[in-house]
Amino acid sequence: MWPLVVLLLLASASCGSAQLILNKTKPVEYTNCNKTVVIPCFVSNVEATTLDDLYLNWKFGNENVLTFVGSQRTSTTGNNFSSASIVPEALLEGTASLKLDKSDAVPGNYTCEVTELSREGEAIIELKYRVVNWFSPNENILIIIFPMLAILLFWGQFGVVSKYLFLFLYMF
Ligand SMILES: *[C@@H]1O[C@H](CO)[C@@H](O)[C@H](O)[C@H]1NC(C)=O
Ligand SMILES: *[C@@H]1O[C@H](CO)[C@@H](O)[C@H](O)[C@H]1NC(C)=O
Ligand SMILES: *[C@@H]1O[C@H](CO)[C@@H](O)[C@H](O)[C@H]1NC(C)=O
Ligand SMILES: *[C@@H]1O[C@H](CO)[C@@H](O)[C@H](O)[C@H]1NC(C)=O
Repeated sequence: MWPLVVLLLLASASCGSAQLILNKTKPVEYTNCNKTVVIPCFVSNVEATTLDDLYLNWKFGNENVLTFVGSQRTSTTGNNFSSASIVPEALLEGTASLKLDKSDAVPGNYTCEVTELSREGEAIIELKYRVVNWFSPNENILIIIFPMLAILLFWGQFGVVSKYLFLFLYMF
């Protein structure tokens, strides 16, 4: 009985104090216009004053995206994410955000896992791709109307449809 109680106490103690708190982040979006994509990850209670105590791991499903080993100051990227990078110094301020070229970005859920000595925490951030129209709906209307006007005016030069053109313009 007693060993069990002690174990439980130890477990709850380590849960209470040994967690890094990572901010909950809304899904981030990118479009065809983004050259690079930044997936945010913030730790709000970093205490380390040197990178030696920090370890960071970004994953996409089971795939490794980037591993940063603070004590060695090295970043290793996964095969499919060769453009992945972080700013190591920013880790000390709690920023573990990941930067990727658009060509390496895959929509889905990314896991940011930060370890500081014996404390650790993780967050899942969803990256979404959004298709954008080049032009706003209003501009689309103009794009359709201008060639039509041009054609009508061209015909109008020959007097063939100038009557209709005037009718058309009166309608507005
Ligand atoms: C993270 O969350 C904490 C508490 O909610 C807040 O004070 C802090 O500004 C946030 N940090 C960032 C970088 O969003
Ligand atoms: C994509 O670019 C937009 C506009 O520059 C920016 O607001 C957004 O954060 C970028 N998305 C990502 C995931 O980096
Ligand atoms: C890289 O992506 C390809 C195609 O999406 C996938 O088949 C492969 O398993 C990925 N590589 C790794 C190391 O997961
Ligand atoms: C990412 O995770 C969220 C919450 O668990 C889920 O709703 C969403 O469908 C996931 N997205 C993908 C692309 O798996």
